[in-house]
Amino acid sequence: MAQLQVQLNRLKLRNPILVASGTFGYAREMAAFVDFAKLGGIVPKTVTGEPRIGNPPPRTVEATSGMLNSIGLDNDGIDTFIEKHIPYLSNLDTALIANIAGRTVEDFANLAGKLAEFDGIAALELNISCPNVSGGVDFGTNPDSARDVVKAVRDACPFPVIAKLTPNVTDITKVAEGAAKGGADAVSCVNTFQGMAIDWKKRKPILGNILGGLSGPAIKPLALRCVYQVAKAVDIPIIGVGGIANLNDVLEFLVAGASAIQIGTANFYDPGVSARLVDELDAALDAEGCATVNDLIGSVHS
Ligand code: SIN
Repeated sequence: MAQLQVQLNRLKLRNPILVASGTFGYAREMAAFVDFAKLGGIVPKTVTGEPRIGNPPPRTVEATSGMLNSIGLDNDGIDTFIEKHIPYLSNLDTALIANIAGRTVEDFANLAGKLAEFDGIAALELNISCPNVSGGVDFGTNPDSARDVVKAVRDACPFPVIAKLTPNVTDITKVAEGAAKGGADAVSCVNTFQGMAIDWKKRKPILGNILGGLSGPAIKPLALRCVYQVAKAVDIPIIGVGGIANLNDVLEFLVAGASAIQIGTANFYDPGVSARLVDELDAALDAEGCATVNDLIGSVHS
């Protein structure tokens, strides 16, 4: 058996297969389908300071090889997250990476401060990249803002900090550099690509919020490109996310430079995929003669 453990600065994971925020609920919903102990970690739905009702429906629509969502960070707020979800999530036999979002740097720092006392949390992922709420991507489109928000969260809690980046920028490497300057332990590459769907017969957009974020296999080559570029630009580890659905996808992201990956949209149509991929990765490393997954990470060359 190959060594699957990966180290992302201060965050140690038993293997590089995680599940992405917004695609795995608060894990309870997936307990019938997934042996959580197999996973490298779980990233539950983004939590904000206050409860949010999200965007008007319809909030999802299928696209060719993917899906558009405009959920709008619907969640019950940090107090309910702490009361209802942390006790369950932090007792699972896998790393819990809480995902937080705010409208200001202070919001992010306050959320981190509220979570700081929970030692069942392995890391915080900062959602600075939601395309579906006003201001959701502001921190993710400006390198200095990304730096400032990462630094504020680092100062407010003892956890490793991961910045989840948006691909909806001209040059994602600049924002990754900002996050690295702020002290990010890692960056997640990438959140969804802004898109839309139209019912041409009605001459109307389909999503209630008009625009949404595209995810699923349709975006895999785009996300892979982002990982490749960011890996060349920064020294901090990368978590690849974007359309990963099978073993080849996992291997491509690792070789491109990701130290771990997140399964997102595939959880909706193949809920057991994440745990299955851990076994498949193990077998693939053996077949490749790799003693450790680190032998693959960033091994691409032209
Ligand atoms: C949403 O809640 O709108 C999706 C989350 C995200 O894109 O960050």
